[in-house]
Amino acid sequence: MSLKLFQETFGEAPAVSGWTPGRVNLIGEHIDYNGGAVLPMALPLGVDMALTPIEDDLAQIVSAQFEGVAVRQLSETASHQWSDYILGALAQVSPAQGWHAAIDSSIPFGSGLSSSAAVSVGALRLAREALHLPKLSAKEIALTAQSIENNFIGVPCGVMDQMAVSALAPGEAMLLDTQTLAFEQIAIPEDWCFVVHHSGVHRELSDGRYAERRATCFAAAEKLGVNLLCQAPISALEIENNLTDIERQRAAHAITEHARVIAAKAALDQRNLSGFGKLMIESHASMRDDFDITTPAIDQLVDVSVECGAIGARMTGGGFGGCIVSLVDAGHKESWRKRFEERAAGAKFIC
Ligand code: GLA
Repeated sequence: MSLKLFQETFGEAPAVSGWTPGRVNLIGEHIDYNGGAVLPMALPLGVDMALTPIEDDLAQIVSAQFEGVAVRQLSETASHQWSDYILGALAQVSPAQGWHAAIDSSIPFGSGLSSSAAVSVGALRLAREALHLPKLSAKEIALTAQSIENNFIGVPCGVMDQMAVSALAPGEAMLLDTQTLAFEQIAIPEDWCFVVHHSGVHRELSDGRYAERRATCFAAAEKLGVNLLCQAPISALEIENNLTDIERQRAAHAITEHARVIAAKAALDQRNLSGFGKLMIESHASMRDDFDITTPAIDQLVDVSVECGAIGARMTGGGFGGCIVSLVDAGHKESWRKRFEERAAGAKFIC
């Protein structure tokens, strides 16, 4: 699609084009900046992009999802526009190179499915290819995309999303150690089906609540005497320390979530569907009760999903809105979906 849009807008074929997936995080939320393990999976939805370098210092960017052509100076700062993510990536690759660019995303924005990571990872890869720069590894691309998000956009996110979208193909999952960035690719058993629904609640990670959670976790880690919160043992929560109530709650989520991810990987290895599902449900409860990042509408969707027969369900992504992911036995997928969508009025099927 972006090829056609590019051709229609700029009157010629692009020099390079490519596709980058979004991701759904199956378990391990808000622990990628706490040194925890996470288990994201790449989606069949993604961002299609086409680029041509031009002799100018402006980026002219068109998107199938937004009106008009964004014309941006490569030296501009981010300004809360949809074109910020691609601009940040293009400027990182070459600070004065102009571009024609077209984007078409099948990932809904602000839904917790990493549309922004897919844009920056895709733009970094393609711009480097167009300028004949040496190919970077998936990890190098992910770290560069994370630094764009941290320093150009201003969201202090971890590296899970960028690692997932840069290293995985649709349907593949990874166990990622966010301290070493070592990862193991994981095949999802064929009879397991992860279904993503949008709650209808839009979310923004740049509104300060993400940064606040992160700051509280760092304060708790310091008081517990560890560099990163997930390095603390669960017993650290029970012994006498000077954590505030909020710090104790946030730490309880991070430390137990890390343990759940390790247990979820073991459940996957043993093809223990109900064990994995139970951990998803516990993860959601921890995000709701201790990390306080869910919303009543999302809590209700998760409950309804399980009542309708999902083996597990939880909110996915940064929180405060966005999507839920349900684990369903593939044989019962259609009947579960029918029951769930009848009862869950605001929920929209994503994939
Ligand atoms: C967002 C961030 C990630 C991660 C998740 C929560 O998606 O970009 O780094 O922290 O939230 O798990």
